[in-house]
Amino acid sequence: MPNSKPPAPLHPDLAEVLLTEAQIKARVKSIAREIKAAIGDSEFTIISLINGAVMFTADLMREIDNPVRLDCIRVSSYGGKTKSIGTPQVIHSLTLDIAQRDVLLIDDILDTGKTLKLVSGLILDLKPASLRTCVLLDKKARREVPIEADFVGFEIPDKFVVGYGLDYAERYRNLPGIGVLRPDKQNSAAWASG
Ligand code: IMP
Ligand code: MG
Repeated sequence: MPNSKPPAPLHPDLAEVLLTEAQIKARVKSIAREIKAAIGDSEFTIISLINGAVMFTADLMREIDNPVRLDCIRVSSYGGKTKSIGTPQVIHSLTLDIAQRDVLLIDDILDTGKTLKLVSGLILDLKPASLRTCVLLDKKARREVPIEADFVGFEIPDKFVVGYGLDYAERYRNLPGIGVLRPDKQNSAAWASG
């Protein structure tokens, strides 16, 4: 962008800023338009994968004027690591009935694909009228399970990112933008020693 200033540092623990608050905001608005173009004006049910998708879900919902219902699913997290290990586990499941409903599943980031695959399967077992998936970030290079989201905010390189809902050991979710965590901050021992 020719006339824009370099982005202000988001946090000292970041090696680089990937997406500023303004960039995310603009893209969230345009994803909402894409969703609207696909779904139309009818009611649908949003299922948000918490905790990571909280900010994205909250912002995206406010850009959509359809009647919507909201439910959340909690899936086991990295637990202080930067690579997913094994199969994700559902810790807290749905409370709404989604049979015959149009469903939009929202996650923060599509990485190996295991989480989206698992949760999509669980939702489809409940016989919704339709299921669409939406992720803010897509790390295509890391895919292990062949799955793509219907709506993708940004494709990003294979780097561990935090901010705007994304965490490392539950930290950094509150940063308004998204950046790459410095390698020396990517181990639990660093946290234990402060
Ligand atoms: P997947 O099952 O490997 O696709 O991983 C998806 C989940 O891993 C997301 O819901 C995120 O919570 C988490 N995740 C993947 N990559 C990152 C990252 O770079 N930063 C923070 N969390 C991540
Ligand atoms: Mg996470």
